[in-house]
Amino acid sequence: MARQRYVVCRADALPEGKGESFEVAGHRVALFNVGGSFYAIEDRCSHADAPMADGHVCEAGRRVACPWHGAEFDLRTGEALTPPACEGIAAYPTQVDGDEVVIEI
Ligand code: FES
Repeated sequence: MARQRYVVCRADALPEGKGESFEVAGHRVALFNVGGSFYAIEDRCSHADAPMADGHVCEAGRRVACPWHGAEFDLRTGEALTPPACEGIAAYPTQVDGDEVVIEI
């Protein structure tokens, strides 16, 4: 199925270093602002379904740590980097278009 573009929010609505959860086309998406760059991943940890938007962002590594048990995920790919998660989660192409954050699902 072809990907579609969706406007998620205004770029200035999400402070740097923070994540926020959005419902986009039936998907729970965690959107992060990391030093002015935006990343979108599935808002569900593969270990026990924690909300990843509440996770701790590590700017240097472009990683986010799960808020419940600390598994880290790559914000660019959704790859699980540390236990206890062993499966990756979805990552969505993200760009800023004008003053809006757009993702592809
Ligand atoms: S729910 Fe994320 S590491 Fe356990």
